[in-house]
Amino acid sequence: MKTIVITGATSGIGLETARLFAAAGYRVLAVGHSTANCEKANSDIKSTCPEAMLAWFAEDLMQQREVERVAGEIKAFLAKEGVESLYALINNAGCARSWYMTTEDGYEQQFALNHLAGFKLTCELLPYLLKEGGRVIMTSSESHTGIKVHWNDVMLRRRYNPLTAYKQSKLCNLLFAKGLNDRYASAGLHAYGVDPGLVKTDIGNKTAGIVDIFWKFRKRHGVSPTIPAKNYLFICEQPEPPQWLYWYLCREQKYSRQVTSENATRLFELSEKLCGISYK
Ligand SMILES: NC(=O)c1ccc[n+]([C@@H]2O[C@H](COP(=O)([O-])OP(=O)(O)OC[C@H]3O[C@@H](n4cnc5c(N)ncnc54)[C@H](OP(=O)(O)O)[C@@H]3O)[C@@H](O)[C@H]2O)c1
Repeated sequence: MKTIVITGATSGIGLETARLFAAAGYRVLAVGHSTANCEKANSDIKSTCPEAMLAWFAEDLMQQREVERVAGEIKAFLAKEGVESLYALINNAGCARSWYMTTEDGYEQQFALNHLAGFKLTCELLPYLLKEGGRVIMTSSESHTGIKVHWNDVMLRRRYNPLTAYKQSKLCNLLFAKGLNDRYASAGLHAYGVDPGLVKTDIGNKTAGIVDIFWKFRKRHGVSPTIPAKNYLFICEQPEPPQWLYWYLCREQKYSRQVTSENATRLFELSEKLCGISYK
């Protein structure tokens, strides 16, 4: 049986993706923010897919020490179950913010959750992914375009704009996937970014302020999260790892010219410093 890890599995795109993988016979290690939401999502999936093989882990992935903790819990679970490798890791947890807010590490929250959490969790689980020639999938977005990484002020402390922070974090998702491929494709690990499109979820309504108001209108035009969920399964079901980086509706998609090896390396080095880790 193939085992996958997915973050942000309690609602929206992550919930439907976890359901789809469970129905396809994968063992799903699902990460959420709160125990209550994990329990709710577990019952929801089990009601439509009673045979689902699910295990739940609840931590606040915005906080670096909680990313470490969830990685430890996943490793302990794998050891207990005698599982030595992971087939895929889907870094999907994400948030939007209306103003500058920081984590306990002092990092801007969208950058911390949307990029750094996945960067750190992937590093922690890398040995398991490398054993099986695993696939890492980042939930990116079309909004990664029309922006550059603000290298001299990556948290946008000096001049904060919530949309710029969100867009930059989604560009970082693709740069991270590119960086993983540059480093590990020869060892059999492949990474991807998925653009889910505009999806009717509550992401913008989990925060107060302008984003909440804007998202109430914007999401009306969104599709069901069951639609992008198919893209993650599609990538994992290909017998040979697809060679293209960025996907939308199960099709190869063009991406920003900012997604270069040079920028990917720069982001890797910066993120290693910010997370206090080293990939090698
Ligand atoms: N919706 C769209 O149109 C759209 C478009 C492009 C990209 N995306 C991306 O898709 C991904 C999923 O978003 P969604 O639209 O499905 O929104 P969502 O329903 O709000 O899902 C976000 C998930 O992340 C979890 N989460 C939030 N904060 C967390 C934290 N501090 N620690 C751990 N988990 C946390 C949420 O847990 P709770 O359930 O407890 O809140 C939830 O499971 C995000 O990366 C987003 O940027 C969405």
